[in-house]
Amino acid sequence: MIRIEKLCKVYGSGPTAIHALKDVSLEVRRGEFLVLMGPSGSGKSTLLHLLAGLEAPTSGEIYLDEMPITKMSDDQMTVFRRRHIGFVFQFFNLLPTLSAEENVALPLLLDGQSMKSARPKAVSMLERVGLGRRLNHRPDELSGGEAQRVAIARALVFEPSLLIADEPTGNLDSRNGEEVLSVIRDLARQFGVTVVMATHDPRAAEYGDRIARLRDGELVEEGTIPVERKAVR
Ligand SMILES: Nc1ncnc2c1ncn2[C@@H]1O[C@H](COP(=O)(O)OP(=O)(O)OP(=O)(O)O)[C@@H](O)[C@H]1O
Ligand SMILES: [Mg+2]
Repeated sequence: MIRIEKLCKVYGSGPTAIHALKDVSLEVRRGEFLVLMGPSGSGKSTLLHLLAGLEAPTSGEIYLDEMPITKMSDDQMTVFRRRHIGFVFQFFNLLPTLSAEENVALPLLLDGQSMKSARPKAVSMLERVGLGRRLNHRPDELSGGEAQRVAIARALVFEPSLLIADEPTGNLDSRNGEEVLSVIRDLARQFGVTVVMATHDPRAAEYGDRIARLRDGELVEEGTIPVERKAVR
């Protein structure tokens, strides 16, 4: 599904250049839930941004289903991302003036679908994240956990093959955090979505199948999560 080969990302140049990623190679299987850990500044968000095609690497290549994404034009990448990659951020990134339903329908509308065809898909996805009774609430009328579940519904409304999550529980208390992680894990399984999630939280990591660890831009350790430490399923 994902093959990352010798990925390097350098910000700036000369003596002040920051080597955010150094020769990172990594594979993620279809349907796998990979957790990316590592201290602040170790390159987690950088790797996720490159994976989503939001930024270009300095060198190296990323293949999504054998497609080299750095070879795509910006326009191609925009459409590809919208249809195949869902993104969930720490701060939800919902549009404040739109209802939950409209926020979730937005990617479909941007892709040229009518509201008539987009609405039932948005409603069905909100029901799946347990928010069937919050369709018309605006983001400021939702709890943090609910807002993040709207963001998950939006990320999955296209039924993407890849879900990228950057600290999705970083802004939530532990109860809401666990609910959000369960929703991500359960829906990813239902849809067969591959998940790559960055987190600082060892408890969040227990929802994944495998951990990759970054330190100073280098991948230093990979391992499966022992069954006895996995969150209850
Ligand atoms: N746009 C940018 N311009 C310059 N430097 C950047 C840029 N984005 C990130 N960096 C630097 O690259 C390094 C990796 O940053 P990154 O955001 O990937 O870390 P992170 O592991 O996600 O950290 P955190 O856990 O705090 O979110 C850091 O040293 C950061 O300062
Ligand atoms: Mg980060």
